[in-house]
Amino acid sequence: MSIGILGAGAFGTELARNLSARGIPAVIANSRGPASLAALAEELAPHVRAVSFDEAARADIVILAVTWVKLANALQGLPHWGSRIVVDAANPDEVPSLKPVELNGRLSSEVVSDMLPGARVVKAFIDIEAEIFNEPAPAGGRRVLFYSGNDAEAKRQVGDLMAQMGFYAVDLGSLAVGGSLAQFPGEPFPGINFVKF
Ligand SMILES: NC(=O)c1ccc[n+]([C@@H]2O[C@H](COP(=O)([O-])OP(=O)(O)OC[C@H]3O[C@@H](n4cnc5c(N)ncnc54)[C@H](OP(=O)(O)O)[C@@H]3O)[C@@H](O)[C@H]2O)c1
Repeated sequence: MSIGILGAGAFGTELARNLSARGIPAVIANSRGPASLAALAEELAPHVRAVSFDEAARADIVILAVTWVKLANALQGLPHWGSRIVVDAANPDEVPSLKPVELNGRLSSEVVSDMLPGARVVKAFIDIEAEIFNEPAPAGGRRVLFYSGNDAEAKRQVGDLMAQMGFYAVDLGSLAVGGSLAQFPGEPFPGINFVKF
C-alpha cells in the first residue's frame, strides 16, 4: 500500500519521521511544491520522498495533515478519490487560537467525508500531539491511539499501519461513535495520553 501525506507542517513532518524510522515508504507534500521540502526529503530519504500535492493524493492511503480552515481549499481539484482510503487527522479548530469551528451539530469527519466523494474515510491520529509522535513506547508501554470508520477493510489497513508505526491502535467503531469520543476539541479522549502496558 502506498502512503501519501497531504501537509508537511508540524504534524505531517512528525508522521513522516515515524514512517521513515520504520522503513515504511511514503510521499509527502505541501502547498509550495517538493523543492520547498528538499531538506526534509534529504533527512528522510530513501523511505520518504517529497512530491507534488496531486501525486501524494493518488496514494492508496492518503493522510490529511492540513489545517482545518485550509482543508476545503487544499482538496479542491484533486484527482477523483475512487474508493481509496483517506485518514482524517484534521481537528476542527482555528489556529493558533484552537477555537472550535462551528460544525452546526455535525461531526468533523462527516464534514470531511463530504469533501472526499467515494473515499473510505478513517478518523485517526487525532489524539496525539506532533511533539510526541515519535515516542510511541513511553515507559515500556505502547501509546494508545484510537481510530474509527464505516468501512471495515479500510479500518483494518489503517489499524495495521498504526501498529507498524509502534502504537497500540484501538478501533472505536463507526465514524459516528469514534467522532463522539475522539473528536478534538470537545470530546473526552484526546489529550489523555493513554498507554497500554
Ligand atoms: N500539530 C499537532 O499536534 C496535530 C496533532 C493531530 C492532528 N493535527 C492536525 O493535523 C493538521 C495539520 O496540523 P499542523 O499542526 O501540522 O499544521 P501546520 O504546521 O500549519 O501545517 C499545515 C500544512 O498544510 C499545508 N497546506 C495548507 N494549505 C494548503 C493548500 N491549500 N494546499 C496544500 N497544502 C496546504 C501547509 O503547506 P505550506 O507549508 O506549504 O503552507 C502545511 O504543510 C491539522 O488539521 C491539525 O488539526 C495536528
